[in-house]
Amino acid sequence: MKRRVTKAVFPVAGLGTRFLPATKSIPKEIMTLVDRPLIQYAIDEARAAGIKEFIFVTSRGKSALEDYFDHAPELESSLRKKGKKELLKTLKSTNMESGAIAYMRQHKALGLGHAVWCARRLIGNEPFAVILPDDVIAAEKPCLQQMVEAHAETGGNMVAAMEVAPDKSSSYGVLDIAKDMGSMVSVRGMVEKPAPEEAPSNLAVIGRYILTPEIMRNLNKMKSGAGGEIQLTDAIAQEIEKSDNVYGYRFRGQRFDCGSKAGYLQATVAFGLARDELCDELSDYLESMVNMRRAAQ
Ligand code: G1P
Repeated sequence: MKRRVTKAVFPVAGLGTRFLPATKSIPKEIMTLVDRPLIQYAIDEARAAGIKEFIFVTSRGKSALEDYFDHAPELESSLRKKGKKELLKTLKSTNMESGAIAYMRQHKALGLGHAVWCARRLIGNEPFAVILPDDVIAAEKPCLQQMVEAHAETGGNMVAAMEVAPDKSSSYGVLDIAKDMGSMVSVRGMVEKPAPEEAPSNLAVIGRYILTPEIMRNLNKMKSGAGGEIQLTDAIAQEIEKSDNVYGYRFRGQRFDCGSKAGYLQATVAFGLARDELCDELSDYLESMVNMRRAAQ
């Protein structure tokens, strides 16, 4: 019988230098889309997929993340006294069960593969998910849930995948497709950040993974790869040689690269427009901006 996926690793040790000076004092995962931090979107997606244990791989300067997931009794009681029921509900929806979160330090920035490997003892011998909170995915059915359902059929290792423009291949892990079955592809190779002329396809890895514990064993022996970093992509690619059980999953949904300023701003607009209370005002404003630009041309 296949084991259910109940553990997820959230690599949140990155310095977030693209968002300096903001990230001088706040972790980038605390930056908000409308009013929810990026990490909250990742947690909500994991919960919807049945994840019960949340493992954060952090680094120095990330204590605001630990505080964010703590209960806030003073704030709660003050909202209760003032009868602010809706806000209280919002606040409580972020509370995590005691013992559900573990924090693990990555002492050196040696790459995504190394960050995931730091969680190996907490993962043990179980399949696990990895969520990169920079990749925010708006979807009717949350992306990881789609993957968990697909994974129940295939088992093995699965990465979220999306077609990208050929000239963008050097920002992603890219799949070499063995067989294309539509929403699912079987994979015969994976390359981290290839130059466009070396990319085996334009199907890129997006930050959602369901992995077998063998990946941790591969990471035990992994040497540095692209960019001089220990790459998760390489540890997954190694598994193809050994057991031929790696799949790409074309999820349904809109992905925003919140690790880049343009992607973050686009996500802010999209998630703002998705809110009933903001939609009219925001779309009027956007329309007036477009008209102004047209008039100036
Ligand atoms: C990481 C992975 C890469 C993947 C990407 C998705 O790269 O290494 O394979 O395509 O996330 O966002 P990063 O963006 O952290 O450089």
